[in-house]
Amino acid sequence: MAKTVEIADLKRIAKRRVPKMFFDYADSGAWTETTYRANEADFAKIQLRQRVAVDMTERTLESTMVGLPVSMPVALAPTGLTGMQHADGEILAAQAAEEFGVPFTLSTMSICSIEDVAAATTRPFWFQLYVMRDREFIYNLIDRAKAAKCSALVLTLDLQILGQRHKDLRNGLSAPPKFTPKHIWQMATRPQWCLGMLNTKRRTFGNIVGHAKGVADLSSLSVWTAEQFDPRLSWSDVGWIKERWGGKIIIKGILDVEDAKMAAATGADAIIVSNHGGRQLDGAPSSISVLAEIVDAVGDKIEVHFDGGIRSGQDVLKALAIGAKGTYIGRAFLYGLGAGGKRGVTEALEIIRKELDITMALCGERDVKVLDRNNLYKSGLETKPRMAQVKKKRQG
Ligand code: GLV
Repeated sequence: MAKTVEIADLKRIAKRRVPKMFFDYADSGAWTETTYRANEADFAKIQLRQRVAVDMTERTLESTMVGLPVSMPVALAPTGLTGMQHADGEILAAQAAEEFGVPFTLSTMSICSIEDVAAATTRPFWFQLYVMRDREFIYNLIDRAKAAKCSALVLTLDLQILGQRHKDLRNGLSAPPKFTPKHIWQMATRPQWCLGMLNTKRRTFGNIVGHAKGVADLSSLSVWTAEQFDPRLSWSDVGWIKERWGGKIIIKGILDVEDAKMAAATGADAIIVSNHGGRQLDGAPSSISVLAEIVDAVGDKIEVHFDGGIRSGQDVLKALAIGAKGTYIGRAFLYGLGAGGKRGVTEALEIIRKELDITMALCGERDVKVLDRNNLYKSGLETKPRMAQVKKKRQG
């Protein structure tokens, strides 16, 4: 893998190595991609407070997410078709996360199955659940995640219907890939990727094919999603899912204060402030621009996590300073995976860790757990986060 210093380098390499339809799948947002772009761009509006002459020795990024220790509060987000960015992608990403000491979240729409990832790792990973019409399948999926000793269930609520992503429609995205001349050309120009795919048996949705009734193949993701994802999903479903799961549960896809309050009332362990990486409701605000008001509304009742637009450790620090207790990277690790498999994911995590550590030090802080809005100079966002917060810091 060529030398990399920032996530954008991994993205550039991944684009050369991953067939266009799969790179585009990871990289695209819904419709005009306005929300996707805002997720990234709004981070730049936040200014950090520079402090000097503070003893910088003995810094720590260690923290917890839903009570579980993490080497830094940055988890790998659940991402669909990860095993199409690189052969056995979910296994490789889970192994990289395990070695790094951060959570890996396996998507329902993964290529490697829950059992594949469990067999290839030694520590518990997290499992992300989509609710389908076929409830027997969902009961079974929850039980499989339990049997695999997953340590948290991430329940996604913002994808009852798939947001339209123009690139996927134009590319004719499917898994396993179709074999039209266009697709064959896209793959033939990526020989390393092809070699990896030839050497693995995992080329379709491992959690679904062979487990959901009548599903032997998923020719089109969008058609299958439209047929199978449950549009009736409501807050009352969280109760039975929580009960059947019986462990830590994190609700993903919260972008509104009212929904945050509803989520907190379910007794879940955490929420993830997220607009699905700008892949669902285009035109919705960026995740970072709503984080402050959601933290202020429910932060004392439920742990608030954050995802959307993180491409650097500085972005992580900004989300933590506003009040998130944990963050997730999706595309940032997928670019690493596409660029260099497991080594590329580790590289993405290293890049983020180094940036977070240096940024924290330059903000005059030594412990990632004490970051707060005092570390921000200006929010620069439309919503007005409460900047004044009284907190005891650096004692002892
Ligand atoms: C699925 O999770 C997707 O965003 O495509």
